[in-house]
Amino acid sequence: MGNTEVYKKLMQCVEAVRKVTDFQPKVAITLGSGLGDYASNIRVVSEISYSEIKGFPVSTVPGHAGKFIFGYVDDVPVVCMKGRVHYYEGYPITDVVLPARLMRKLGAEVLFLTNASGGINHVFKAGDLMLITDQISCFVPNPLMGPNDDDLGTRFPDMSTVYRKDLQDIIRLAAKENGIPFQEGVYCQLTGPSFESPAEIRALRTMGADAVGMSTVVEAIAANHMGMKVCGISCISNLAAGMTDQPLNHIEVQEAADKAAPLFAKLVTESVKKMGH
Ligand code: HPA
Repeated sequence: MGNTEVYKKLMQCVEAVRKVTDFQPKVAITLGSGLGDYASNIRVVSEISYSEIKGFPVSTVPGHAGKFIFGYVDDVPVVCMKGRVHYYEGYPITDVVLPARLMRKLGAEVLFLTNASGGINHVFKAGDLMLITDQISCFVPNPLMGPNDDDLGTRFPDMSTVYRKDLQDIIRLAAKENGIPFQEGVYCQLTGPSFESPAEIRALRTMGADAVGMSTVVEAIAANHMGMKVCGISCISNLAAGMTDQPLNHIEVQEAADKAAPLFAKLVTESVKKMGH
């Protein structure tokens, strides 16, 4: 069982975490740009910096300081990733998805992914929240390439409903009950780190993408492979390249995401509360 290098590394990381805490999370939350301060909504039980876990990928992006936070959102046990690594940082794709796999191994049944993205759909505005209903993965390496570990999941996993319908319904209901406006759409991951060209954005729109970013899709693939229930919300931090006459820059993307943070946080909290029951 579990004799690939990827699996061995994963289990070493699980062991390292288990030396610090025996906390059993039900929901795993990956915090994207703008939700970095979400930890203030958590009754914290324990924290572990990624740097304390031997071999664990550590983010190099400003605003992505990395640690796991264990605790409760209302009475739902959660593990929260404050900061994530991106493929463009140079890590192998198996390291990029290692944290999602680790949270599954710690017991999480649900993976709640959040991110900031560029809006492609003409109806979207900067600051909108988008419920992710599906994804396009064709532009990033598949994290399941290489020998399959049957202990993680099957060789050819179904991808028909990666973003579970029941979790989408929970998020819709949480938004409605709390008067939080939101959009819905398909998220496409590109490697980055350069933003897209206007021609690339037109091409992605033709393909059916509503938003574009540099994370999330590979994590969703790895989590789905392991049988996790996945859901996600994207904060449209800007309209994508060529849709306005403004050039894109990371600081402004970050600031727009920060501005949407209170509603974003409320939607995550109210959704997680429902998922815990
Ligand atoms: N493109 C890619 N990633 C992003 C963007 C964008 O416009 N905005 C935030 N993340």
